[in-house]
Amino acid sequence: MNATLDYIQKNKSRFLDELLGLLRIPSISADPKFKGDVARTADAVADSLREAGCSKVQVFATAGHPIVYGEHIIDPGMPTVLVYGHYDVQPPDPLDLWESPPFEPVIKKTAIHPDGAIFARGSCDDKGQFFMHVKAFEAMVQTRTLATNVKFMIEGEEEVGSVNLGTFCRENKEMLSCDMVLISDTSVIANDTPSITVGLRGLSYVEVEVTGPNKDLHSGVYGGAVANPAQVLCDMIASLKDKNKHITIPGFYDDVQELTPAERAAMNMAPFSKKDYLTSLGIEDTMGEAGYTVLEQTSIRPTVEVNGIWGGYIGEGAKTVLPSKAFAKISMRLVPNQQSDKITKLFQKHFESIAPAGVKVTVRPHHGGEPVVTPSDTPEYKAAALAMNDAYGKEPIPVRGGGSIPIVALFESVLGVKTVLMGFGLDSDDIHSPNEHYGLFNFYKGIETIPAFFSHYARLKAGK
Ligand code: BES
Ligand code: MN
Ligand code: MN
Repeated sequence: MNATLDYIQKNKSRFLDELLGLLRIPSISADPKFKGDVARTADAVADSLREAGCSKVQVFATAGHPIVYGEHIIDPGMPTVLVYGHYDVQPPDPLDLWESPPFEPVIKKTAIHPDGAIFARGSCDDKGQFFMHVKAFEAMVQTRTLATNVKFMIEGEEEVGSVNLGTFCRENKEMLSCDMVLISDTSVIANDTPSITVGLRGLSYVEVEVTGPNKDLHSGVYGGAVANPAQVLCDMIASLKDKNKHITIPGFYDDVQELTPAERAAMNMAPFSKKDYLTSLGIEDTMGEAGYTVLEQTSIRPTVEVNGIWGGYIGEGAKTVLPSKAFAKISMRLVPNQQSDKITKLFQKHFESIAPAGVKVTVRPHHGGEPVVTPSDTPEYKAAALAMNDAYGKEPIPVRGGGSIPIVALFESVLGVKTVLMGFGLDSDDIHSPNEHYGLFNFYKGIETIPAFFSHYARLKAGK
């Protein structure tokens, strides 16, 4: 192990330079204009896997963006770890809120990252995190300490719902066969408080359109009589929650798994300062579901949130107009045992049913994903906990995450394997926001923790 850590220490600055190279390519999966850049990133990832020591590397074309696959089989009889990550990133807008251009990485110190952090879109989510695996793998190959087979699957469509990855997994079950999946695409509680994510929320996502009169109207001549779609949309959205912020869609909570008081007490033991939380967000209070703590509201409880809303006049000055149409993008985060398709249908039925006379409502479903809970009594989890303990000098705390990685549920149903979510980012790293960053401490800590994981996992699987 010391040889591996030595190797990492000696090659640190090269590892960072290589990551910065990846961060310079704008692999924005959502925007067709960047298709070429996404493909270029896939090739760069494939090259990095080859250089790191994978004996077989292949870039698979899909109906969307390519999937990069790599493997290093040292002995077919040994356990195999499949490392999953994504090289695509979220759109960087609003661009004017970035302090430096999103695809020109710079390193700056912050209060939380006194050793410096890399500011760039994708630095934490997920280029900086999957790349730790590539470099840890290189270090293990170079120092001949790798004790399991490794497969890599790094995709380019995670941020758009992994629409083609399910099919790819079903069609390549043999190639992807493994004993477990390891993912670094989540966060730790703090740099001095390691944690392992043991659950993710699912997702239903819809776009709604409210249509009123057959054209925009003068808001004085017609206002007061004709239903205003923008206002109707606001009323309809407002009615989705009651005064306790409980969701009013009939049947929405039917399948929600309630935790026992003991489980809830345990999860609320995790260090959390409401005061720091409010200060860091510049707000005076939160506004979540009554009867649940912030930690619970953002992990074990489902949500309905407006992600975008538009319609009518939004240009300079005041135009007096009653818009013909209004729109919103609405997401619902789901918890076990809610099902994405079922919830999307419930939403659709309810939203259409509450439309007042005078407007027409259309609900268009987007991608979704199922919630997951990952076990913490398995050799996989134990290996991750021991590795984090080695690297941080502290036992990691199991926590349920609020975000979604839709493919995790499919790894279980299609490949029949469990996932370990050993992420190294911080919730304050501004993923999906302007000025996304990833701490150098976190990047290097991850590269150190991963070889420890592999060695513990190989040992535990060998029954030692
Ligand atoms: N890495 C995130 C998910 C995440 C972040 C989980 C932090 C836990 C903590 C992932 O890239 C992501 O953003 N997923 C999307 C889902 C997707 C279908 C667009 C999400 O959660 O919004
Ligand atoms: Mn991610
Ligand atoms: Mn993301």
